[in-house]
Amino acid sequence: MAKPAVLITRRIPASVIARLEAACEVDLHEGGGAMPAAQLQARLTGKQALMCLLTDRIDRAVLDAAPGLRIVANIAVGYDNVDCAAARARGVIVTNTPDVLTDATADLTWGLILGVTRRIAEGERWLRRGEWTGWALDFMLGTDLRGKTLGIVGMGRIGRAVAARAGAFGMQVVYATVGPDPGAAGPQGETFTRVGFDELLATSDVITVHVPLTPETTRLFDRRAILRMKRQAYLVNTSRGPVIDEEALAWALRERLLAGAALDVYEREPVVHPDLLGLENVVLAPHLGSASIETRTAMADLAARNVIAVLGGAPPLTPVPA
Ligand code: DGY
Repeated sequence: MAKPAVLITRRIPASVIARLEAACEVDLHEGGGAMPAAQLQARLTGKQALMCLLTDRIDRAVLDAAPGLRIVANIAVGYDNVDCAAARARGVIVTNTPDVLTDATADLTWGLILGVTRRIAEGERWLRRGEWTGWALDFMLGTDLRGKTLGIVGMGRIGRAVAARAGAFGMQVVYATVGPDPGAAGPQGETFTRVGFDELLATSDVITVHVPLTPETTRLFDRRAILRMKRQAYLVNTSRGPVIDEEALAWALRERLLAGAALDVYEREPVVHPDLLGLENVVLAPHLGSASIETRTAMADLAARNVIAVLGGAPPLTPVPA
């Protein structure tokens, strides 16, 4: 009997391909960027599984191109790139890659918090331009974290992992959720204080965002929300770009209504709002939250194990919530 076939839209580690090849025919798109929609649809025809990335838009047209499709395995924890309702209506299972990237993303979040509060990227730019003339008592002063309040918006797995690291920096944690409260306990059973969103905005010294992109969270940080933050506060985002209105953020940073921001994600990736590019008080990272060798391998491997499970008639390991 012919093996089922999987389309993989981007290069993944060889060990993961080997795992898949034992169970299915693998069609790997080797190109660098995202597959154009027409090519994606054409290559998906006749396949039973799709392994894709957050840069692939999996809409009705894509799903309709493969009537025999059984699973879309997104190699990401976020799945706003997949029309899950349309998939469900066609009996296609959608899976994501939770847990395996939690620590990497929490670590990167702290890198960004330190990067912006201690002006690391700004200082590096200064140095590379040859403008550093030597140590001075008042040169490029940042802000200490100890004794300050960290406001976490979205207390899911990554939010909790970020919160768990806050004690090491001497920060108090408050959190707010959009939608149901998943519980305030951290990975080690720590408890954190839940407050309303507006209270979090008004009282936090650093705000870090860990919500999925949904209609409720789109532009959650608009001009109104940003204006409620302390002028000396920092805003950090490693979730999804459209959660922040970039134009409003750039305006607030330019006008010094906020001390700084650090972003890993953008409204129209890979385009970054031009107003942000010229500002010194924002750290801009190119969507690196999960970008470690171990984590990206684990993400691809989990997606592959989902594909193998579903094609073998077993339940998916990590289906997206209904
Ligand atoms: C995700 O998984 O959703 C991240 O944005 C990329 O790791």
